Amino acid sequence: MKKFDKNILDIIGNTPIIKINKLANHVESDIYVKLEFMNPGGSVKDRLGYYMCKKAVERGDIKPGGIFLEGTSGNTGVGIAMFCAIHGYKAVFVMADKQSKEKQDALRAYGAEVITCPTNVEPEDPRSYYSVAALLGEKLPNCIHLNQYANPDNFETHYTWTGPEIFDQTEGDFDVYMASVGTGGTLTGAGKFLKEKMPHLKVVGVDCKGSILAHYHKTGEMTQAHSYVLEGIGEDFLPDNVKFDVIDDFVVVEDEESFQMTRKMLTEEAIYSGGSCGSALLGAIRYAERSKKKERILVILPDSGNRYSSKIFNDDWMKKNNYNVLENNQLKDTVLQVLNDSGVKL
Ligand SMILES: Cc1ncc(COP(=O)(O)O)c(C=O)c1O
Repeated sequence: MKKFDKNILDIIGNTPIIKINKLANHVESDIYVKLEFMNPGGSVKDRLGYYMCKKAVERGDIKPGGIFLEGTSGNTGVGIAMFCAIHGYKAVFVMADKQSKEKQDALRAYGAEVITCPTNVEPEDPRSYYSVAALLGEKLPNCIHLNQYANPDNFETHYTWTGPEIFDQTEGDFDVYMASVGTGGTLTGAGKFLKEKMPHLKVVGVDCKGSILAHYHKTGEMTQAHSYVLEGIGEDFLPDNVKFDVIDDFVVVEDEESFQMTRKMLTEEAIYSGGSCGSALLGAIRYAERSKKKERILVILPDSGNRYSSKIFNDDWMKKNNYNVLENNQLKDTVLQVLNDSGVKL
């Protein structure tokens, strides 16, 4: 056979960039999205899981067969679990209980141990997922806690990989780089690299209402965080990997409007992506509406819609949470009428 890759880890990266059409036709600017859900594990975090594990092994921070431990909203866990499956390590993941069941199930299916912790407690609370991960990291034998929030390998993943990949794909021919922010690695790691190559570039984060990041960027002051439903983005503390000096601006979006944009992205652009992708695109559209200039905006779409089929893409879940569902089953009555007229009872 002439053309094949060594294993699944070899095909992480090189994700495509496409243009947004209908959803952005009312703005002057052009919006492009980088489809990180095309990674083999389904998200941008394949890069991070792979890179952090590889670096830890190269440095000798973990012995063969040891345990990689991580606090994750799910996606980083998949990247780590893929590395463990290929290289014979074990994985333990600590997750907040608001993360979708699909993500928890996927991690267990990879063979990982998954511990879920209450979402609505302070980070310092011993039951929080930060505290439980820190405790297990100290006590489990032959275990390394990767800690994507503070691990410099997170920033480096995007500074040495995602950023250069974007530059090669685009030849630097765009004006604004945007991503939703959790640990900050995707926005500020790639953003730093791109700014060094493209001094005109603006780096703009998308934060969610309830998080403290955008407010801190604007004022330098901490505020009280409030709970929100979006997964993987926003924080109630300041992660080391959010490099605020790289960020020029933030757009803040809310849960419901992000979910509706996520669904519209599927019905209007046939892009099946997760909730933080809806946030990121909505943030980009808002930014374009606000800036009167014609700019080219590149937006990262972190993960796939199939991680949220029981939530954002489930009408019952949307309605139960009082989110407005934009009905698009225009053919339902016609189809039922045809079946009824033909005497088919299902
Ligand atoms: C779904 C999703 N979107 C966005 C992000 C934010 O990416 P980063 O942590 O690089 O800021 C994450 C991080 O876990 C995520 O899981």
